[in-house]
Amino acid sequence: MSYPYQIKSLEQYHTDYKKSVDDPEAFWAAVADNFYWKKKWDKVLEWNFTEPKIEWYKGGKLNITENCIDRHLPTMAEKPAIIWEPNNPEERIRTVTYARLHKRVCQFAQVLKNNGVKKGDRVCIYMGMVPELAYAVLGCARIGAIHSVIFGGFSAQSIADRLEDAQAEFIVTCDGAYRGDKIIPLKAVIDDALIGNKLVKKVIVYTRTRMPVSMIKGRDIWWEDEMEFAEGQVEKDGVVSFPAEEMDAEDPLFILYTSGSTGKPKGVVHSVAGYMIWTAYTFVNMFQYNKGDVHFCTADIGWITGHSYIVYGPLAAGATSLMFEGIPTWPNAGRFWDIIGKHKVNILYTAPTAIRSLMSFGDAPLAGKDFSSLKVLGTVGEPINEEAWHWYNENIGNKNCPIVDTWWQTETAGTLISNLAGITPAKPGWATLPLPGVQPIIVDEKGDEITEKDEHGMLKGNLCIKAPWPGVLRTTYGDHERCRVNYFATYPNLYFTGDGAIKDENGNYKITGRVDDVLNISGHRIGTAEVENAINMHSGVVESAVVGYPHDIKGQGIYAYVIYNGHHGDENQRRQDISLTVAKIIGAIAKPDKIQFVSGLPKTRSGKIMRRILRKIAEGETENLGDSSTLLDPEVVNEIKDGKI
Ligand code: WT7
Repeated sequence: MSYPYQIKSLEQYHTDYKKSVDDPEAFWAAVADNFYWKKKWDKVLEWNFTEPKIEWYKGGKLNITENCIDRHLPTMAEKPAIIWEPNNPEERIRTVTYARLHKRVCQFAQVLKNNGVKKGDRVCIYMGMVPELAYAVLGCARIGAIHSVIFGGFSAQSIADRLEDAQAEFIVTCDGAYRGDKIIPLKAVIDDALIGNKLVKKVIVYTRTRMPVSMIKGRDIWWEDEMEFAEGQVEKDGVVSFPAEEMDAEDPLFILYTSGSTGKPKGVVHSVAGYMIWTAYTFVNMFQYNKGDVHFCTADIGWITGHSYIVYGPLAAGATSLMFEGIPTWPNAGRFWDIIGKHKVNILYTAPTAIRSLMSFGDAPLAGKDFSSLKVLGTVGEPINEEAWHWYNENIGNKNCPIVDTWWQTETAGTLISNLAGITPAKPGWATLPLPGVQPIIVDEKGDEITEKDEHGMLKGNLCIKAPWPGVLRTTYGDHERCRVNYFATYPNLYFTGDGAIKDENGNYKITGRVDDVLNISGHRIGTAEVENAINMHSGVVESAVVGYPHDIKGQGIYAYVIYNGHHGDENQRRQDISLTVAKIIGAIAKPDKIQFVSGLPKTRSGKIMRRILRKIAEGETENLGDSSTLLDPEVVNEIKDGKI
């Protein structure tokens, strides 16, 4: 069964696209009519990009959990909403039906209420990939609390910064998390993050590993005890209920922190209605999801991909979402392929970095696996190189599954540019065409539209979007000016993506990568300034400069140039100390892949580091480093070049 808002042909794509641009209000009203509103909106769209102020479905009242759960109950109560595959393949699978999901979310909403959480309060969630993470997220949404999920790989310091920025008073965590053959002590990290914190009132701890944890009286409480108590409150005579808070369409749904070009992560804020419409609409259309299909998105819910395409998008569409706790290479590199066979997965959505990593194990892990259930493949997070695309197409898709290359960002809520599986054509390495409602434009440094083709017949420049789509970020938490400056001020009246792109004669877009000081490491965004700040925290470091370089598996690796003035250890020990410092300040994901000690950095007379030169050296370029005439000390470049590792 398909959806009323599902695009079913190439022709329909073009007519829908045109409608969405000619009359966005009529187009998005028709889509929104397929959802459950406690009260319909007064006005579909009001906006300006100068403040910015963007309001979708103004005056509308709804609760996203009623759309993701309750409205499916009459027809789908016993259908699986979430299938959970544990880290250890020997452990029991859990299948969460829509009825069970409803009960657990109501219970957890009651737990939050019992502990004093109110609409608008910020709840920080730091958990492993267990179904309880989805219950926690949806429980918050049920009562109108604003969740802020933090990926389990972030350090105590990162959590402390985010708690402070969000002024969070509540935390939901696990004792520990399983990740391959490792156990991550999540509660212990939270304990460290809370040293000196005066705001957090309650920490709810779900038992996953039953590892020893410290539980502070009056503050730390067990998930299981709370849920058991709440069960009696929400269930009467076998009927489960917990009223869903009436939310304004523009009330914030969640905060998700992401790196930018400054040292401090930004709390991207998405609002209830627009986010729901955008994730559901894009989910159904790009994957061509049909009722009953099993959708497997391999991301972690700690990132936007997991928010939008494991939890909200699929559930808003009444889909079956497979949630995986483990990693692709444990107990062996056939783990994804086993899961596909075991659960008869129809849609696989993963990152190019995972594909390249699994490719590197050769054919052996593919032998004997059953890929016959697969209908659609997808990629997200970074540009996919053609070699990986073809490997994915031939070995996993058996040349029989469309591959969608979905380009989007934390700030966009869901996909903006992608082919639609089997409907619009794919082009390897290209995100291809914008979804309805998305109006991309390629501009030059000054913000003028590029109209002249380059030597390859392409339009090439910086990628912006001309008008709001329902899922565009509304603000950055606690600092609206930062949102304006970051996204809406570079070019007047345009949303600036921070990406470069090229456009071919058929209107297809290829994303060429970030044009700001943001790295994309294994599909995760990390700002160079953030890594530099962390490196500079090490006592022996005088100064540092961080750039990206091409990495076979990760896409980009982190290359750090460091001026060091300490006396402890040899170079390798110093490297390890610096890496550990970065892991403590940010998290293991931000550890530099290469650290080169230098005596100076190439700077202009005004003291600005010439990153362009450093980037070229890290990329292995020895000639053509560009103009160095403005450098204070050109000689330092030769030294750095000679010392390249
Ligand atoms: C940045 C956003 C989108 C969820 C995961 C990452 C890059 C994302 C693609 C793609 C080329 C891509 C961009 C973007 N990116 N998808 N299909 N092709 N590049 O979310 O952490 O917010 O990062 O990831 O550079 O700006 P994020």
